[in-house]
Amino acid sequence: MNNNSVRIGVVGVGYWGPNIIRNLTNMEEVQLAGVCDLSKDALNRVKMQYPDIPLFNSFDDMIKHTKPEGVVIVTPATTHSMLARQALECGIDVLVEKPLATTYDDALMLTQISKDNNRVLMVGHTFLYSEYVRTLKKIIAKGEIGKILHIYSERLALGQIRTDVDVLWNLGPHDISICNYLIGSTPTEVAAWGFNVLNPVMPKADIVVGKLVYPQGITVYLHFSWLDPQKVRKMIILGTEKMIVYDDTNPTAPVVIHDKNAIIGPEGKILMRNRDKNIIPITLPEPLGVELRHFIHCVQTRQNPVTDGTHGSEINAVLESLSFSMKNGGTPTKVHLRDL
Ligand SMILES: NC(=O)c1ccc[n+]([C@@H]2O[C@H](COP(=O)([O-])OP(=O)(O)OC[C@H]3O[C@@H](n4cnc5c(N)ncnc54)[C@H](O)[C@@H]3O)[C@@H](O)[C@H]2O)c1
Repeated sequence: MNNNSVRIGVVGVGYWGPNIIRNLTNMEEVQLAGVCDLSKDALNRVKMQYPDIPLFNSFDDMIKHTKPEGVVIVTPATTHSMLARQALECGIDVLVEKPLATTYDDALMLTQISKDNNRVLMVGHTFLYSEYVRTLKKIIAKGEIGKILHIYSERLALGQIRTDVDVLWNLGPHDISICNYLIGSTPTEVAAWGFNVLNPVMPKADIVVGKLVYPQGITVYLHFSWLDPQKVRKMIILGTEKMIVYDDTNPTAPVVIHDKNAIIGPEGKILMRNRDKNIIPITLPEPLGVELRHFIHCVQTRQNPVTDGTHGSEINAVLESLSFSMKNGGTPTKVHLRDL
């Protein structure tokens, strides 16, 4: 900590919040002003590890007593919009975990409030701070794989099973934000199918497959599950010239460019090329650390974050259209973005 350190509060220390605290306590430029949670057990766990951090059992008390310049909101998705709104209206900069809100209306409302109050609003789309994903973007921007034709992405594991939102709203923000970033636009039409395997009585989809259609005609196939025996975080990007396999669980070969493609040649003949593969070595600083440093930098410089309210709201619009399609048996559904 130094004299110019930024005072930050953390809201919610269940599963993910402790990772935020671990990173913030290692940052010279941050003073962890306080931590709050409704659960005594959660606060006790923090106290055991960090006896000097002031603890509070309400957000109001933490704000009143610590007067933070910024807060990181790490509570369940259904509480994000209420807590973020309160912070922004108190003049506090906000980093809120994904999804920004559970409706597109709320996401736009928060974005508007942040603009009106000249506050930083950043959404925790962690993968956009990952060197793996940034490397993919550079490879695509250089034209190395030609034009993107199609992407398919799988995010599967056993857990974290949530009760407030379905698997689409829990895992979907990651892949939609990565695809929007790589393709450079937002889908215009989507479709989705959900499966309520665990609890058909109080339905929340545990497994979702979805389709995104981007304005350039690029299609994306998505598969999410929190009921899978394997941990899979894999994205395949098919280009006109080459193909990429991005495997987030494989640190020795996270990004592999395959010099393979199939094209329709003269007289409709299908020509296939199958040459070498190139493993791209990537050193990975923890993406969450990069994300938190970016937030602190934005608080200090008043810069607009990469994953700002507008980015988060667009993902909310896509999620909402996917949900609509899912409720209507996979009906193709337009994504209508609205200006603020
Ligand atoms: N970016 C990522 O990779 C990533 C990974 C995991 C979770 N997340 C996100 O982090 C958020 C939290 O997830 P989690 O797995 O830690 O959930 P969790 O349920 O384990 O923990 C949430 C905590 O928030 C507390 N809480 C709830 N309402 C509160 C309130 N009004 N004030 C203060 N505390 C409150 C709960 O008591 C609990 O301790 C979710 O939005 C999730 O999507 C992001």
